[in-house]
Amino acid sequence: MGFLCLLIIGIHLHAVTFALPSSWCNVTSPSGPIPANALYFNTKSRYEEVNPYLMSDILAINESWVKPPSPACRAVHLSAIIRHGTRYPTSGNIKKMIQFSKLVKSRADLSCVKELQTWKMWYKEDMDGRLVEKGRSDHRYLARRLIKSFPTLITKENIEEGRVKLITSSKHRCVNSTLAFKHGVMEGLCIQGVDLPHTINDELMRFFDQCRRLLETVENNKDAVKEVELFKNGPEMKRVQEKLADRLQLPYSNVTADSVETVFYLCAYEFTIRGLNSPWCRLLDDADGQVMEYSGDLKQFWKRGFGHDINSKASCILFHDLFKRLDAAANQIKSGGRVSEVVMVQVGHAETLLPLLTLLDLFKDDVPLTSSNFASHRGRAFRTGAIVPYAANLLMTLFDCPDGLRLQARLNERPLTLPGLDDLSPLYQDVRKRYEQLLQGCDQDTVCMMDSSKN
Ligand SMILES: *[C@@H]1O[C@H](CO)[C@@H](O)[C@H](O)[C@H]1NC(C)=O
Ligand SMILES: *[C@@H]1O[C@H](CO)[C@@H](O)[C@H](O)[C@H]1NC(C)=O
Ligand SMILES: *[C@@H]1O[C@H](CO)[C@@H](O)[C@H](O)[C@H]1NC(C)=O
Ligand SMILES: *[C@@H]1O[C@H](CO)[C@@H](O)[C@H](O)[C@H]1NC(C)=O
Repeated sequence: MGFLCLLIIGIHLHAVTFALPSSWCNVTSPSGPIPANALYFNTKSRYEEVNPYLMSDILAINESWVKPPSPACRAVHLSAIIRHGTRYPTSGNIKKMIQFSKLVKSRADLSCVKELQTWKMWYKEDMDGRLVEKGRSDHRYLARRLIKSFPTLITKENIEEGRVKLITSSKHRCVNSTLAFKHGVMEGLCIQGVDLPHTINDELMRFFDQCRRLLETVENNKDAVKEVELFKNGPEMKRVQEKLADRLQLPYSNVTADSVETVFYLCAYEFTIRGLNSPWCRLLDDADGQVMEYSGDLKQFWKRGFGHDINSKASCILFHDLFKRLDAAANQIKSGGRVSEVVMVQVGHAETLLPLLTLLDLFKDDVPLTSSNFASHRGRAFRTGAIVPYAANLLMTLFDCPDGLRLQARLNERPLTLPGLDDLSPLYQDVRKRYEQLLQGCDQDTVCMMDSSKN
């Protein structure tokens, strides 16, 4: 009796929820090997989307990007802060994927996306954020390109004499990225049996886990990310949900903002991990992709970016670590000595890099990202897919030039102008002047203390 009743209600709901829209079968067509939405994957973006020339040659470097400030300059130090490579989804996201794909298989009308009928769920919860094979390649080939870009710094001699160092976050995906990076270095230099040790340092690479003020005021405070929730419940997201529901012929009540995100993730992961333009990608068009990208950027903006002052200040420890090393190298050069740490490679997370880039005042839009200004932010600077894809890297290179020491910054191997310094290779002393306030303050303990006034 009860069952029958439920069944009738079910049918009834189904009937009233949608009168068939004429465009219900309007799924996007597979446009080739790369999903049309690949530019919108935020922190789940492939590194190759930022540097497309790598698709035809993974070892290619753009010579015009790695020129010294002038031919008379000589590279003397490289600090690289690198995000881990391509990884599996976290267990929480895998759970959502399993759930929604079950619903789709059992209740959706798949006559528009027939390939979904045969698509098999293969993600398992214990894959939880682990580095995948592609992630190993990301680091291995990045290492080999860096050897080509800095042939006088990453050398056999510097390694043998202990002037190349590696530090990593303790997370398995970072440690394994570090191992892949080393593999790339050894392979690129044709050396074997040389020890290139790494150390684990979470205080430095996972400062976001240790800064009490960040944890209490942002991480564990729903209010801090209320704009994200508002956007998820706003009109742009609602429209994406309805279009997805129409395409799958599911009741609107079954397709939440979370479901859309799950489909978007499935598309992204199938692409980055397996290189597939999967049927899940058919379900979201370009307009949907832009909304999803904004939603992801909004979250990063409030959790790791300019949204709250503490987000970037939590990286003070990494900022000082970087400048201390640059200072040390600069002083050794000035006193006519030899640089003792020629290369420092640090492997961490998107959550490591974004706050530091924010602290350096990079990718700052005039107007904050909020739930209500999606339309006016189409041309925004804060695009996490371009800033922190897998294997994202901030490269700081010090050059000894006739007119003094100069610093070149690069992000994802591309030249980067530090805000307020219009030269691509400013004098190091001008860089220090630009960040003088941070260099004199930005004390980690003070900044992260719960009762401190702002530093
Ligand atoms: C199908 O979708 C495309 C892209 O979203 C849109 O431009 C077109 O107008 C749609 N066609 C119909 C019949 O809805
Ligand atoms: C290399 O960099 C230059 C300058 O930014 C650019 O014009 C050129 O298109 C780049 N080459 C490739 C293959 O991306
Ligand atoms: C890391 O690599 C080792 C061997 O290279 C492997 O056994 C281990 O499962 C990997 N861990 C992750 C998280 O990928
Ligand atoms: C889908 O919606 C139907 C009714 O609209 C409801 O009975 C069912 O529990 C929903 N399923 C999920 C997984 O949300």
